Amino acid sequence: MTRTIQVLADKGALVAQAAVLVCDRIRHTLAHQDRCTLALAGGSTPKPLYEAIAQQDLSWERLHIFWGDERYVPADHPDSNEGMARAAWLDHVAIPTENIHPMPTHSGDPAADAAQHNQEILDFFQAPAGEFPQFDIILLGMGDDGHTASLFPHTEALQVCDRAITVGNKDGQPRLTFTVPLLNRAHLILFLVAGASKQTALGHVFAPEDDSNHYPSRLIHPAGEAIWLLDKAAAEGVALPGRP
Ligand code: 6PG
Repeated sequence: MTRTIQVLADKGALVAQAAVLVCDRIRHTLAHQDRCTLALAGGSTPKPLYEAIAQQDLSWERLHIFWGDERYVPADHPDSNEGMARAAWLDHVAIPTENIHPMPTHSGDPAADAAQHNQEILDFFQAPAGEFPQFDIILLGMGDDGHTASLFPHTEALQVCDRAITVGNKDGQPRLTFTVPLLNRAHLILFLVAGASKQTALGHVFAPEDDSNHYPSRLIHPAGEAIWLLDKAAAEGVALPGRP
């Protein structure tokens, strides 16, 4: 696993760099295999990135879109990560419907929906028995508390290691989320972290020793490559590994 940290002048520069990295990686992946699997982050930071990617000329028919986590709401709910990505990007490009793989959030039973999506992922990837599927690219954000996807501090989801998808818990509200082992199988994880409110958590996440249950983003070390894109506001005052 390799980890690189890039500090960009501001959120706009971070988004522009993320768009270059994502689109270059999609093109590189499709030069070597038939399809590219990309899992999206939710929250607010990625929205301008999705808008920027929608302007690109990519082989949409060979790109498969998943979500790393989802709030337990319908896709037309203002909090829906799926809804945000569709409005910002997916509704504006010629990506086949069957290439979009949203997390189910409509049965009223989050555990059942998580189990269903877990099976959907396994069926899609046809990974060898006992192996977690390997996404080409996973986008992640990080909360002010150090959470990522819907892996929140001191929750049971952090310990789930026998399946790809589980139920996360934010202040008692259920969410569906990729598990740590699924995330850590990725070829590339791109973290997008902007704003001064992230400084404290970043300091704990990058510290040589700290409590990973308190700062779950510490748990993410993908098999391939992790690229952290920070803006200056987020990185201000943070002891970044490998930097004076
Ligand atoms: C979600 C996200 C979550 C998000 C972080 C950062 O569903 O909210 O997946 O993990 O990435 O909370 O959110 P911002 O980008 O809004 O700071």
